[in-house]
Amino acid sequence: MKLHLGCGHSYMDGWINIDGPKNELCYDDLKADVHARIEDLEYPNNSVDEILLNAVFEHFPRHIAIMQLRKFYKWVKPGGKLTILVPDFWGTVEMLKESKSPKERQFWFRHLYGPQDTIQFGTHYDAFDVEKLKWMFSIVGFNQHRYKIIKRWPSICFTGIKDNKVKSDADAERDIIDYMAYYEAKDETGLAFSAWMDAMGLKAKKPPMPTFKTHEMYKRSYFIKKAIAKLRHMFI
Ligand SMILES: C[S@@+](CC[C@H](N)C(=O)[O-])C[C@H]1O[C@@H](n2cnc3c(N)ncnc32)[C@H](O)[C@@H]1O
Repeated sequence: MKLHLGCGHSYMDGWINIDGPKNELCYDDLKADVHARIEDLEYPNNSVDEILLNAVFEHFPRHIAIMQLRKFYKWVKPGGKLTILVPDFWGTVEMLKESKSPKERQFWFRHLYGPQDTIQFGTHYDAFDVEKLKWMFSIVGFNQHRYKIIKRWPSICFTGIKDNKVKSDADAERDIIDYMAYYEAKDETGLAFSAWMDAMGLKAKKPPMPTFKTHEMYKRSYFIKKAIAKLRHMFI
């Protein structure tokens, strides 16, 4: 069984083509075998040969994306694979640097943030590069990776292959919690982190994190700006 998730207008023979519920799409000429939210799909563990998401994975909010990835890993048979194609952040930055005007750059901002053309499914929630995809795929259990960078339409086509060394739920959960923590800086309130954990059904406090140079630089400039604003207020 091969699943083509978020098939859009690219129906593929020999695959189960799936796209969102009809009443949540902005086009009515889309041909799919199943209309459902990807998040609502269920398949038995080790039952799928191949899963493909072409320009779809970036449409999941962060906490859903990593949980979905784990689900895909479990559905895939050992020897089976998952392929996602997502915008390449650094490749798109190159296009932005080469663009000569805000009008020209507009298209590449859309490439990063999504067309925002459908009621539910047009927004991109996250950015990706190769290192991050290696990290994410390893967290959920894919030990073998292959990838290809597409330059002109800056994208990364990333494949995880499931081997026989199956990652346990407990190990994956621990690594997912650690991964999500890095969406906040070390000393941030942890409010977002708690909300994600609730939404993911995980019980976890933000784990200890290292200090990063760029976060410290940000913090220093924030406090300096705040102090200057206070002084201005006192003397003007
Ligand atoms: C950018 S289009 C890509 C279409 C197709 N894969 C292609 O490459 O031509 C993204 C597609 O994913 C679908 N999609 C996005 N998020 C979805 C979700 N959560 N559940 C079901 N479909 C989703 C959208 O409806 C849309 O058809």
